[in-house]
Parts: sequence; C-alpha cells; structure tokens
Amino acid sequence: MPSDSQHKPAAGGFNDAQSHWDQRFSRPGLLFGEQPNRFLEREAARLAPGSRVLSVADGEGRNALYLASLGHRVCAFDISPVAVAKARELGAQRRLQVDWHTSSVDDWDWARSRWDAVVAVFVQFADPAMRRRMFEGMWESLEPGGLLLVQGYTPRQLEFRTGGPGKVEHLYTSSLLRELLPRAEWLLLREYEDELSEGSAHVGHSALLDGVARKPA
Ligand SMILES: C[S@@+](CC[C@H](N)C(=O)[O-])C[C@H]1O[C@@H](n2cnc3c(N)ncnc32)[C@H](O)[C@@H]1O
Repeated sequence: MPSDSQHKPAAGGFNDAQSHWDQRFSRPGLLFGEQPNRFLEREAARLAPGSRVLSVADGEGRNALYLASLGHRVCAFDISPVAVAKARELGAQRRLQVDWHTSSVDDWDWARSRWDAVVAVFVQFADPAMRRRMFEGMWESLEPGGLLLVQGYTPRQLEFRTGGPGKVEHLYTSSLLRELLPRAEWLLLREYEDELSEGSAHVGHSALLDGVARKPA
C-alpha cells in the first residue's frame, strides 16, 4: 500500500527534496505509471488545439507526454533529474516532443513565458508558504483567458492513506483554492471520492479535488 512517508517533505531546501525524489524515482518502472492522470484526460478537451502548456512538477512525464500526444506545445519541469531523464526516454520512445527542464518550483522563472494552460497534478510537496509562491507563479505565467488545471488530495485523504502527503497543511480544500486564486473564474471546483490506480504510489480509494480556473481576459 502506498505510504505517506513516500511524500515526506524535505527538511531543508532543494538538495533534500531532490535527493528524496531521486531515490523514489530510481526504482525500476514508473512510480505514477505510464497512463495520464484521469482528471487531466477528462479536462484536456477544454484546451484549444496547439495550446502552449506548462506541466509543473511533472515527474516521469506521463502528463506532459499525454498533452504532447494531443498536439499541444508542452514544457515540463521537475526537481528530480532522475525523473526528467525517465521522462525524456519515454518521450523518445513515443517520438513525442516536450521541452523538459530540471528545476525546483522556487527556481523556475515564472515570468519567462506565458502559457495558455498550466497543469499542476499532485504538486502537494509544497507547504503553505511554498504553495502560495507556486500558485502566484502559475497564475502570473498564464495568458489572460488561460486555464489552470489542478488536482490534489483533500484532508479526507488522511483517513484513506492511499497516496499523497500525510500532512493536512499540504492538502487542498475548495475554499483554500478560492483564497489562493482570488481572481479566478472557476469552471470546475469539486471535492469527491474515487478509486485511483496510478503506478504503485496512488492506489485505492482516494479523496480528491479537481479544479479548472480561468484567468479573466
Ligand atoms: C506526487 S509527484 C507527481 C508527479 C506528476 N505531477 C504526476 O502526476 O505524475 C510530485 C512531483 O513533485 C516533484 N517535486 C517535489 N518537490 C519539488 C519542487 N520543490 N519543485 C519541483 N518539483 C518538485 C517530485 O519530484 C515529483 O515528481
């Protein structure tokens, strides 16, 4: 069963988090599986053809590669060079182009480009202070009219312990997201329960939040 110790937050800065995630991704196979996240599959139809999309903390590439397979122009980053190397390899096998980078969310230059969509699937490594910086960055980097697609666990997940961080302050509620993105037009914001089967790390009954926020034009 996936254990929440998998998501033990880094005690310190970049190097602790990087080595923690490198260690997890060094095992054979793909920790979160090859298939794209189901929320992303459901909501990707909202993206205009050929959108410029940023996938934040994309891990081993399953979501960035899915978006690239739909014909979007995708950039993805993650703190773990081990994960990014696996993502590159999977992309080469599938003959799909993604602009891959290794970076922490705190080192990422959010102002560098503007995106039609930003995807943040299970980026709950962030404590409240980092989360605020990350959401400000993601929002800033969206074009007016652009979409932010977010999935995460809610506090009910602490009862199920089938994946995700074991710390309530890392989890999402609808009111937290409304507070983080006060100018967002929410096209979707819902908390629900479902069965997940994502590699070996997210498996079983889960308490989830899906959000699609539009930046006003
Ligand atoms: C739960 S995994 C989700 C990966 C991917 N989004 C997916 O759904 O398959 C969390 C990811 O966050 C990355 N990560 C952890 N701390 C980070 C940080 N400070 N900056 C960027 N990425 C980070 C990890 O390396 C890992 O790939």
